[in-house]
Amino acid sequence: MIIQNFMPEIGERSVQERILTCLRAEPKALPSVFFYDQKGSELFEQITKLEEYYLPNVEIPLLSSTAKKVNSELKECNLVELGSGDCSKISVFLDAVPKDIRETIIYYPVDVSKDAMEKSGHILQNKFPEIGIHGINSDFIEGMDKIPGDKNRFFCFFGSTIGNLTPARTNEFMERLGNVMDKNDRLLLGVDMVKDINVLERAYNDSLGITAEFNKNILRVANDHIGTDFDPDDFEHVAFFNKELSRIEMHLKAKRDLVVKSGLFEERFIFKKGETIHTENSQKYTVQHIYDMANTAGLFVSDIFSDEKNWFSLAEMVKK
Ligand code: SAH
Ligand code: AVI
Repeated sequence: MIIQNFMPEIGERSVQERILTCLRAEPKALPSVFFYDQKGSELFEQITKLEEYYLPNVEIPLLSSTAKKVNSELKECNLVELGSGDCSKISVFLDAVPKDIRETIIYYPVDVSKDAMEKSGHILQNKFPEIGIHGINSDFIEGMDKIPGDKNRFFCFFGSTIGNLTPARTNEFMERLGNVMDKNDRLLLGVDMVKDINVLERAYNDSLGITAEFNKNILRVANDHIGTDFDPDDFEHVAFFNKELSRIEMHLKAKRDLVVKSGLFEERFIFKKGETIHTENSQKYTVQHIYDMANTAGLFVSDIFSDEKNWFSLAEMVKK
């Protein structure tokens, strides 16, 4: 297994600028990509094991059944997984691919989290020694054009991670991917569908408080990058479904009036009691959304694989 690190290209200075800009904005925000330091990636892994967080329970069986249907398309391909995280999804997907096809695949996980990639890459390599693994430690929008086009590319974007991008970034993501993809390339896009609001809200307000811990961890990440003195205990986890915008929103709400200081930048961030930091959106989709995203990318939806309740979909897209 090899890992190519493109993170220095992004640079600490631009990371700091991004965090500062979002905290200076009204209302204040923090980009959800900053959840995933080592601790955040571990907390997300714990979330995926919670009964209330239904997404993996629905997506995983769907990955197995879908892999069986598309496995002839995987022969001699560069298999790319954007936002690969702990690689548990691709592991299930590859389980359902015959070994003689697996032997011809090179797997390219793309993720900003080097820790998650190193750990999970080794586990995956031990499980499937016949597969070449070439990790790309990078932002997935920048990383997607670093995959060789010498063979057909099969792009996977599982877990509904696309739903964490802003609408503008989603369009940028789809347009870039549409430009990168050639005639024989494919995209398998996992999206969480709109459903009963109680099911949705329970998934982001679990009874053990792991999601709350995951949400608050972003304050520690901000402290590490810009030297602020955020105390996560000063904030309350808030998650609700915004019906109009069809998304779960996560926020952190100040429990009291606060002044948060950055020693590194000699800057103060003033919070009134009840003021929030918007930390994440998690878009919930309809079939129309899927077609709209494909259109933005100049792609054609060749199939949509869903579970019985239509809670989660894997949309397969090809170049028009
Ligand atoms: N696909 C996995 C992991 C989802 S968690 C699953 O479904 O379980 C989201 C993953 O995307 C994390 O590992 C995080 O590090 C990564 N990620 C988030 N924003 C990213 C970005 N802009 N570029 C690259 N990786 C990103
Ligand atoms: C990674 N992503 C798809 C998760 C989601 O459901 O939006 C992140 C998450 N946030 C809270 N719980 C899980």
